[in-house]
Amino acid sequence: MPLAPGPTEFQNMLLAPKILSDPRGPILDLTARYGRIWRSRTLTQRGLRDMVWLLGVEHNERILGPAHRDDFSWYEGYSFSMEPLFGRDILFLSDDQPELGREGAHRRRHRLLIPAFSTKLDGQYLPAMAQIMARYLEELPLGQPVDLAQTIKQVTFHVVAQLLFGAEPEALPQLLHWFEQIGLGLFSLVHLRIPGLPFYRASRARKMLAQYIEGRISLYRSGQAESPTFLAQLLSAEGEDGERLNSETLVSELLAFLFAGYDTTASMLTSVLLALSENPVVMLQLREELSSLDLASVLSGQLADTPYLDAVLSETERLYPPLTFALRGAMRDLEISGYTIRRGDRVTYSPYFTGRDPELFADPLRFDPLRFYQKKPRPYSLLGFGGGHRPCIGKRFALWEMRLFVAQLLLRFDVKFGPQRSDAVYFNPTMQRRDGFWGSLSLNRAAT
Ligand code: HEM
Repeated sequence: MPLAPGPTEFQNMLLAPKILSDPRGPILDLTARYGRIWRSRTLTQRGLRDMVWLLGVEHNERILGPAHRDDFSWYEGYSFSMEPLFGRDILFLSDDQPELGREGAHRRRHRLLIPAFSTKLDGQYLPAMAQIMARYLEELPLGQPVDLAQTIKQVTFHVVAQLLFGAEPEALPQLLHWFEQIGLGLFSLVHLRIPGLPFYRASRARKMLAQYIEGRISLYRSGQAESPTFLAQLLSAEGEDGERLNSETLVSELLAFLFAGYDTTASMLTSVLLALSENPVVMLQLREELSSLDLASVLSGQLADTPYLDAVLSETERLYPPLTFALRGAMRDLEISGYTIRRGDRVTYSPYFTGRDPELFADPLRFDPLRFYQKKPRPYSLLGFGGGHRPCIGKRFALWEMRLFVAQLLLRFDVKFGPQRSDAVYFNPTMQRRDGFWGSLSLNRAAT
């Protein structure tokens, strides 16, 4: 079987930085040119390899479906960028312990982590989330332009840093700075620890952030401070064979959770506001649904069913998935759709392409929450949180956070969006707005 078609070596040299800075155009353009399987080139820990782009719902199932779990490795997909900064021993990369079998290590780690995300803990997490949000929203000035994207970043960082490892509010600006340095290094082109390079700064920032988290863990272990619920769960987690998470592993997992759970949520929440600003009818309908709620119960973390808000979130996930594409490594030679994929090649699926695929969604660019209103999406057609046998472990946590934020924002305020300073975006690797997302607020008299 031939190799999939794709750009020439020279075109690929120009493509790699484009994909890092904004993958959306290249994914759509190259799929239009070559079809639903094409290949580019990428630098991996084993040198320059093919990166095979598998687009469309059948290909999504081919990558994510449980029947094919042994064909692809997360470790081979992400270790190049993640291992140097998060360590090897994290859930994301845990399919590389041959003695347990590729999926065995993942299942073992998953079992230790999953209780911390249990619905039983909602009663602790949700009020804490809502209170953090209230602190920021109450401070926002009225009647003048406010950068809502910036507020969202502060809130989402505060939520994960406080709920996951009990960060102190006064430490947050410094922690956020270190965290952003890590992101810039992770997705820079040259992964060498040479002073002046983003990767060097990222390594230093990782060390400082890890020291801070280690400090918190020591306080909790010694009983000098009360552990936040999430970390208390991880500290007491014990596998069937008595396995526990040691401090080093805990720090790595917490850093990875911070990485997986902060920028992603901030990106998607900002996109929700963007979508509402462009679709006044949707905004009206959402306000109508939320008008039956009262702020006091939202502040105590209780939200009645909000099917329209949930549909707005799904529609945002479809059109603006924070992660444009996701990676795997091929574990053996494969034949897919008439082409050969060689062992060691990178393979990607794309939530972004999938959400805009006209074969799946009629009039795909129209923002229409009714597509998902009290309806389940077709399997492998909505992948903003991944899917198949290894979906996002934090999806429920993130969905609650977004529901509580949107409900609280709209119950408190009437929002007049704009004027925007620009529509420029950057990828870190999730999509973020370079010049913020602006709006002016006035008190929502109906709700207060
Ligand atoms: C809007 C917010 C979020 C989005 C869009 C998102 C998206 C994703 C996606 C697409 C994947 C799968 C990647 C792949 O297939 O390669 C994933 C996995 C993962 N996510 Fe999320 N995520 C979000 C929030 C969170 C939060 C809040 C946490 C933790 C606190 C989290 C932790 C993880 C972890 C640990 C994995 C790896 C799961 C595994 O290996 O089994 N995510 N996420």
